[in-house]
Amino acid sequence: MAGNYDFGLVGLGVMGRNFILNVADNDFSAYGLDTDPDKVASLKQEGEGKKVSGTTDKLDFINQLATPRKIMLLVPAGGPVDAVIRDLRPHLDKGDLIIDGGNSFFTDTDRREEGLRENGIYFIGSGVSGGAKGARFGPSIMPGGAKEAYELVRPIFEAVSAKVDGTPCVDYLGQKSAGNYVKMVHNGIEYGLMQLISEMYAVMKSGLGLSNAEMHSTFDQWNHGRLQSFLVEITADIFTKKDELSDADLVDMILDKAKQKGTGKWTSQNAMDLGMPIPTIDAAVSMREISAMKSMRVEADEKYDDNVGESVVPSVDDVEQALYFSFIVTYAQGMTQLAAASEEYGYGLDMETIAKIWRGGCIIRAGLLEDMRSAYDADPGLKSLLLDDTMADMVKSTVGGARKVLSYAIATGTSMMGLAASVSYFDAFRSGRLPLNLIQAQRDHFGSHTYERTDREGIFHTEW
Ligand code: 6PG
Repeated sequence: MAGNYDFGLVGLGVMGRNFILNVADNDFSAYGLDTDPDKVASLKQEGEGKKVSGTTDKLDFINQLATPRKIMLLVPAGGPVDAVIRDLRPHLDKGDLIIDGGNSFFTDTDRREEGLRENGIYFIGSGVSGGAKGARFGPSIMPGGAKEAYELVRPIFEAVSAKVDGTPCVDYLGQKSAGNYVKMVHNGIEYGLMQLISEMYAVMKSGLGLSNAEMHSTFDQWNHGRLQSFLVEITADIFTKKDELSDADLVDMILDKAKQKGTGKWTSQNAMDLGMPIPTIDAAVSMREISAMKSMRVEADEKYDDNVGESVVPSVDDVEQALYFSFIVTYAQGMTQLAAASEEYGYGLDMETIAKIWRGGCIIRAGLLEDMRSAYDADPGLKSLLLDDTMADMVKSTVGGARKVLSYAIATGTSMMGLAASVSYFDAFRSGRLPLNLIQAQRDHFGSHTYERTDREGIFHTEW
C-alpha cells in the first residue's frame, strides 16, 4: 500500500526532527518514524499546522509514503543503520530509495548500497552538515550513490539546503560512498580548523594577555574580514558566555579534554592508506588524544619547569595571518586527499562542486571557500590549491605571520602542533629538493633497497 507523503524520515532525535520540519516548511509533506512515542509526540506538536506527522509503527510509516518512497535515516552510524535497513527492507518496493544522512564509514555505505541494489532498492550515503540549526534552517548536504537515485530526492534536498547567492548547498557528488567520503574529509578539515583556532587562542591568552572580552572582539573583527567563517564566528560568541554555576566566564570553566566521535581519525587513517599527507589534520587528531591524557599531563606539568626561552611576542595581526595561512593549508590538504580518493575509489568527484556546496550550511563554511571554488573553476585539474596563483598570493602574504607565531610558540614552550604541521607541510611542499636523498642512501646502505640518481635514469645500488 502506498500513501501520499513525499518524504519519510527515520530517527526523530533533534537532527531528525529539525530536518523533517525543514522539509515540511518547504512544502513537501513528510512522515516520521521513531520507536520512542515521546519523540513522535514532540514532532507532531512542533509540526502543528505543517504537512508533517509521525508514527511509532513501521508499517503505518511505509504505507503513508508515496512511491517510489524516499526514506532518510538520521540514526547513529554503525549498527543502528543496519538494523533500520533490515527492518524496512522486506516492506519496500523496487525503486524505493533509502538515504543515510549520518556520519557512516564509507565502506559501510558501499556494502549497504550493493546489498540493497541486489533487491532493486536505491541507497544514497549522504553527509549532512550544520548541526541542529543547520538541519532546521538549511544544512550543506553531500549525497553520493547512483545518479538516478539522487534525482528522486533532488527537489527536496535543493529546497531544504542552505543557499549562497541563491545556489543550493547540495549537489550530486559521485558514485557509491562519495557523499560519506566527502563528509568524512569535511570533518577532518573541521578538526584541523578547530585545533588551529585553539592554538591562536593560546598565544593570544598567554603571550598577548588578551582578556576574554578582548578575545571576543578580536575574533569578531576577524569574522568580518578575510577569516569570515562559521567557526571563527562561534568562537567570538563563546567568549561572551557567562557561567551559570560560578562568577567566571563559561569558557574558563570547561575541562580541557576534547572528545571525538571518530570522523577525524578516519580521515587521517584513510589518508595514510592513500599515501596522502594531511599533517595538520593528523595533528588535530593527536591533540584531542593528548588532551584526553589529563592526569598524565598534570603529572608532567609538575615534573618539568617552565624553563623556556624568550621570543618576540607576535602582534594580533601576526596571529590573524597565522590563522589565515594555516586555514588555507588545511583546506589544501583535505582537497588533495579528496582528489586522491576520487581516483582510488572511482568517485568521479568534482572539486569545484565540493567547494561550492561547502560555502554555506556546513561547519567549515568560510569566505575562503568562494576563492577555492574560483580556483577549481579556473583549473578543474588543479593538483593542489597551493598551486593556484590567487591562493599562492594569499599564502605569500601571510606565511610571515605564521612563522612569527610559530617561533614564539617554540621559544616559549607553547604547544602548536597544528600550526607547526601547517608551516612544515608548506615548507616541504614548496621545496624542490628535500634532504630525503639521505634516507634513500641509508635504505640502500642497510638493506640494499636501491636508489635513483639525479643525473641519469635507472635504479642503482652501492656496496657502502
Ligand atoms: C557537522 C559536524 C557533525 C558532528 C561533528 C562532531 O558537520 O555538522 O561535523 O557531523 O557534530 O562531527 O564530531 P566530533 O564529536 O568527532 O568532534
